[in-house]
Amino acid sequence: MSVTVRNFEERDAERVARIMFESFKTFLGDRIKEPETPDYWIQCSTRDFAHSVTRSFVAESDGKVIGYLCATANTKNGLGTLNVIGVDPACFAQGCGSALFAAADAFWRGLGMRKIYTCTSHVNLRAQAYYKKMGFVEEGRLKDHFHEGIDEIQLSKFMKKG
Ligand SMILES: CC(C)(COP(=O)(O)OP(=O)(O)OC[C@H]1O[C@@H](n2cnc3c(N)ncnc32)[C@H](O)[C@@H]1OP(=O)(O)O)[C@@H](O)C(=O)NCCC(=O)NCCS
Repeated sequence: MSVTVRNFEERDAERVARIMFESFKTFLGDRIKEPETPDYWIQCSTRDFAHSVTRSFVAESDGKVIGYLCATANTKNGLGTLNVIGVDPACFAQGCGSALFAAADAFWRGLGMRKIYTCTSHVNLRAQAYYKKMGFVEEGRLKDHFHEGIDEIQLSKFMKKG
């Protein structure tokens, strides 16, 4: 599958809302009831304030949006955050997540980030394998965090210099 990545635009919001709902349902099941609104995704995709810069990317294949990643860079302390990523479940394991990560990686490097943080649910084995492949290691756990009965694994990656 040929995947290209570009910056998120407002016209992507409806499709992104659907992808995020379907992809998160794959590990949260009925805990996730309905999609966030397109406006939610517009608002959280590019929200710069003080030292915090947020950029979002979509992956496309055959002209169709199939994935989304939202990343933040704190230019004061050098900490980048992978806020959220989701791929259309029909396109899992075909390189879309890797292509989105490469775009975020270039964004973080461009702003001189020294460390990247994210977290994932303990039941989400697919994402754990993905983050490990992207170079993240576990730093800690948060009990019953976003949902009762689901712990969050805190993951980080130190950026190599040069
Ligand atoms: C996690 C997710 C973003 C990965 O995206 P993807 O497009 O499937 O990932 P890729 O095809 O680029 O795979 C990259 C690497 O991740 C790992 N990986 C991906 N899926 C895997 C699976 N089912 N089992 C084991 N490893 C897997 C592999 O190491 C893979 O590298 P390889 O192809 O060289 O073996 C996607 O599965 C997803 O959207 N999941 C639901 C939403 C989600 O969990 N988001 C993160 C919540 S914190």
